[in-house]
Amino acid sequence: MNQHKPIKKAVFPVAGLGTRFLPATKAIPKELLPIVDRPLIQYAVDEAREAGIEQIIFVTGRGKTAIVEHFDVAYELEATMKERGKDMSVLDPTRATPGDIITVRQQVPLGLGHAIWCARAIVGDEPFAILLPDELMVGEPGCMKQMVDAYNEVGGNLVSVLEVPQEDVSSYGVIAPGASISDTLTEVTGLVEKPPVAEAPSNKIISGRYILQPEVMRTLENQGKGAGGEIQLTDAMARMIGNQPFHAVTFAGNRYDCGSKTGFVEATLALALQREDMGEEVRAIAERLLAQ
Ligand code: UTP
Repeated sequence: MNQHKPIKKAVFPVAGLGTRFLPATKAIPKELLPIVDRPLIQYAVDEAREAGIEQIIFVTGRGKTAIVEHFDVAYELEATMKERGKDMSVLDPTRATPGDIITVRQQVPLGLGHAIWCARAIVGDEPFAILLPDELMVGEPGCMKQMVDAYNEVGGNLVSVLEVPQEDVSSYGVIAPGASISDTLTEVTGLVEKPPVAEAPSNKIISGRYILQPEVMRTLENQGKGAGGEIQLTDAMARMIGNQPFHAVTFAGNRYDCGSKTGFVEATLALALQREDMGEEVRAIAERLLAQ
């Protein structure tokens, strides 16, 4: 029988400055930039809902209130659409059950670890998920569902990982893999944030999805600054290894790093090409452009 507490809460840290996308992100949150016609945050929330998450916790900052508006009812818009007989189903994913969206504020972007710690009172004493919306994970089932399935087997803490060329590891959190449990599930014996290439314990990087036990909040409480002068989530997780089970799930699907410009363009092309309503047209456009 499953002994593990269910994962019902997810934290979405969205308080970062998005400097790599300036000037686009001067007045618009990075998380609202659309891939085709859905903002990044919508993909992440849909992925969480598919995994059974009921409570959505946004860690927001200055200039990020439009993210919360996105999940609110837009009365004027809906009334006008209804009057004109337009299809309203396109708005369905933006409807939240009243009370299910909670926001907390990170006043200063001191790092991902600090952003997560800002949600400690809402997370309480339950295991919880974390989704970084600028990492777009496309798979069936989605990445968080794959992680929740793994959590139901092994419990404890999990991160999703993928392999990158060794020379790229120093931009990411990297795991030291231990024993293999299955093709997609590995024990984690160590974690390091942005290691120099020569010191990286593997080429498996953490890819923006986590399931963590609430003790991480207490670890973060006393945590100093790490790589890049930021309070790093990876450092807090590393300190929990040995005290609690820690595993990595290799995501079966595609990941697009939409925090980078090329990753964003790649995601836009990939998803547009897959769409039934436009894939063929976009392919013809891409072929024409490549032939120029
Ligand atoms: P990133 O470093 O990728 O995002 O953080 P950023 O800071 O917004 O973007 P750049 O690097 O300046 O272009 C990963 C995630 O963690 C959140 C970000 O919003 C993003 O979802 N984050 C980061 C916070 O919420 N607070 C922080 O202090 C740092």
